[in-house]
Amino acid sequence: MITLALSKGRIFDETLPLLKAAGIEVLDDPEKTRKLILATNQPDVRVVLVRATDVPTYVQYGGADLGITGKDTLLEHGSDGLYQPLDLQIAKCRISVAVREGFDYAAAVRQGSRLTVATKYVAIARDFFATKGVHVDLIKLYGSMELAPLTGLADAIVDLVSTGNTLKANHLVEVEHIMDISSRLVVNQAALKLKQEPIRRIIDAFASVVEPK
Ligand code: PRP
Repeated sequence: MITLALSKGRIFDETLPLLKAAGIEVLDDPEKTRKLILATNQPDVRVVLVRATDVPTYVQYGGADLGITGKDTLLEHGSDGLYQPLDLQIAKCRISVAVREGFDYAAAVRQGSRLTVATKYVAIARDFFATKGVHVDLIKLYGSMELAPLTGLADAIVDLVSTGNTLKANHLVEVEHIMDISSRLVVNQAALKLKQEPIRRIIDAFASVVEPK
């Protein structure tokens, strides 16, 4: 049995064409079922639905053989025990610093004042500001980061930006582009050795869609 860990939503939807290239069709719609283990048209391949931030954990400890996860999640989790053969170039977005409209970010950074930064991406934010030599106090949040500068909880946020609509709707502006994000295929290293043939077949099929030859 090959187990693939996916999260619901954008990553799941954008993975379907990749699975199709590997001849795999998921038999249930995750938005319509309460099941967490989804069968596929291939009796020896199944999909497990996990929280996006849990995908690297499942694959690292062998709860799943393979998984698809954002670069953001991987950087926060660390990639111990994970083989990363492919950038799938799906679920593309960026991770940025944003502040309230009218907040003079450049001056705050120039003056060397301590910035308070709220984020779900503590490791990425810590590395980014350390490289810039900016002192920051980090506040860990689990969602709705946009509220932090509006309520005075923080001066800035570090968050994912895709269309920019969420920032705009909350009168926030992007002031730094930290990095581009896309989803990666991650593979459990022991599984790759033990189930080499079927896992290689999936990796190769995904690769043929991502980088057509
Ligand atoms: C992300 C991010 C922003 C939003 C950005 O949240 O945290 O809130 O998307 O997208 P936009 O630039 O297209 O408006 P997501 O919907 O992934 O949910 P989350 O709050 O659980 O991270």
